[in-house]
Amino acid sequence: MSVSISIPELLQTPVKRRSLWREWNQLPRFLRLVLLLMFAMTGFSVVYLYSILSAELPSVKKSRDFTQKHFEQNIIPTERKESVAEVQQIEPPHNKSKEEGKDLLKKFSIRNEIKRFEIEEAGPTNQYQEAVVEAFKHAWKGYREYAWGHDHLKPISKSFHNWFGIGLTLIDALDTMYIMGLKEEFQEAREWVANKLDFNINKDVNFFETTIRVLGGLLSTYHLSQDKMFLEKAVDIANHLMPCFKTRSGVPYSDVNLKTGFAHAPLWGSDSSVSEVSTVQLEFRDLSRVTGSPKYEEAAFHVSKYLHTLPKKDGLVPMFINADKGHFRTHSTLTLGARADTYYEYLLKQWIQTGRNISWLKEDYMEAVEGVMKNLVRKSQPKQLVFVGELLSGRNYSPKMDHLVCFLSGTLILGYHYGMPTSHQRLAEQLMETCYQMYASTATFLSPEIAYFNMKDGGGSDIIIKSNDAHNLLRPETVESLWYMYYFTRNETYRRWGWNIFQAFERYTKVKTGGYTTIGDVRNPLFVRPRDLMESFFLGETLKYFYLLFSDKQELLSLDKLVFNTEAHPLPIYNNR
Ligand SMILES: *[C@@H]1O[C@H](CO)[C@@H](O)[C@H](O)[C@H]1NC(C)=O
Ligand SMILES: *[C@@H]1O[C@H](CO)[C@@H](O)[C@H](O)[C@H]1NC(C)=O
Ligand SMILES: *[C@@H]1O[C@H](CO)[C@@H](O)[C@H](O)[C@H]1NC(C)=O
Repeated sequence: MSVSISIPELLQTPVKRRSLWREWNQLPRFLRLVLLLMFAMTGFSVVYLYSILSAELPSVKKSRDFTQKHFEQNIIPTERKESVAEVQQIEPPHNKSKEEGKDLLKKFSIRNEIKRFEIEEAGPTNQYQEAVVEAFKHAWKGYREYAWGHDHLKPISKSFHNWFGIGLTLIDALDTMYIMGLKEEFQEAREWVANKLDFNINKDVNFFETTIRVLGGLLSTYHLSQDKMFLEKAVDIANHLMPCFKTRSGVPYSDVNLKTGFAHAPLWGSDSSVSEVSTVQLEFRDLSRVTGSPKYEEAAFHVSKYLHTLPKKDGLVPMFINADKGHFRTHSTLTLGARADTYYEYLLKQWIQTGRNISWLKEDYMEAVEGVMKNLVRKSQPKQLVFVGELLSGRNYSPKMDHLVCFLSGTLILGYHYGMPTSHQRLAEQLMETCYQMYASTATFLSPEIAYFNMKDGGGSDIIIKSNDAHNLLRPETVESLWYMYYFTRNETYRRWGWNIFQAFERYTKVKTGGYTTIGDVRNPLFVRPRDLMESFFLGETLKYFYLLFSDKQELLSLDKLVFNTEAHPLPIYNNR
């Protein structure tokens, strides 16, 4: 049925670079330092001379882009007018690469059994969904006017922010528009993807973020629309990301230059995040299943199989892994928050995606949930809210919970639907209540990025918010879980809670001239400290989950037929391994 095909080896240059990189790593540390210094000085001199010779040279890019996601809790992109040169970098119609993409696609034998999701009627069916669609349109208006084709809208300064420079918001929002029935908006964005989107740019991108947002978004949009152009683009970006897997252990590097294919560890350290290397499998597998070319699935699934063999504490994984040595970093914090969270999510979702037929995925997942209950779950005082804390250095308990952990209720109830024990359902319900309280207990009805829980008797409030953690990035996890909970229980309470949260976003984060903004302080309704940034996941995830939550049709998108990637992009379930 599927003829195996060979995709031109884009990897040749990177492979060479890789062995150079290895040799480099084998040099004595001091020698490397001296060489680096020499390179740097030469580099600076060249740049300096060049900038004298050419007055129009754009300012040297700061390395902030590499770290923005990782440290975004604390970093707000500084104001910086993008220079004209940078704008042009992502806009030229690049006929060549487009033609190449077409050739690539011709070589595929697209499988007959391609899955199409059935959406009976896209578009809102009640006033709640209508309100969500209005919110989407308002966000889109700002993006379209001030940030079209760029990664993120800065709604207050009416400008944009580029992280990778590949239209993140636009791509993340494609399937949301499709599901909401926003045909004109979808069509306009489609034209941009078809004619302007160019992955052949000299930019370092984060492997994981690009996989979940761009590869995931293009694939789900392809499944929804059956428009092959999206598949062509998905193949294109996947080929640009594949060099990351070329490490000694097969565990991918965190970053890659799209043009050169040079993959490397992050600038801020030598290790990859465990969550990042274990949260690309749904996307790469789907691409293989759709194209009939197994190499994507093989490379990505190898990582899961490898992690499966490593020693863990009650099924729990640390935050970092070294891509070359293949070791977990020891004495690392055990958490269900940043850097580990989605490892657990993708254990379950991979098991579902492959027809619930690879039993070690299920076993690892069940062991991990047991491990969470044993080591991380505690109750706060005085209200007995159930929360998931962290083990610092793998030993010392900290009653700290990231808002990110709120994805867990949705994952747990999804697992329960597929036969996991009742204890999972119970924890899902309790944690859902806690996550709701993280919103309901603040003066703005919006959750902080991180909450601490009071574990001492003798009064005080259950939830403690530190100044550094008081921001809200328009994150989706609680709304996501509310949808899963509502989907499987039909308990209207979850919709009511969702509506309350939606109204708080409307009240405190909406920017009049278009767009929504992240805010710096959820504790102060008089001044929430707007941060002037709308993250792509607000359109890709948060508003999509609100829309699904308020859907009266139980199976607008059926969870028996598809599985959502961690960026809310739905992909089909394949009933075989
Ligand atoms: C792109 O292709 C169009 C039509 O095939 C042509 O008119 C145009 O000059 C080409 N642009 C570039 C930059 O090659
Ligand atoms: C609905 O969920 C709420 C919150 O968890 C709970 O208090 C209530 O008992 C549930 N209602 C039903 C009918 O199960
Ligand atoms: C599950 O795996 C077994 C053994 O590999 C196979 O015989 C069976 O057909 C598979 N079931 C499905 C639903 O793919």
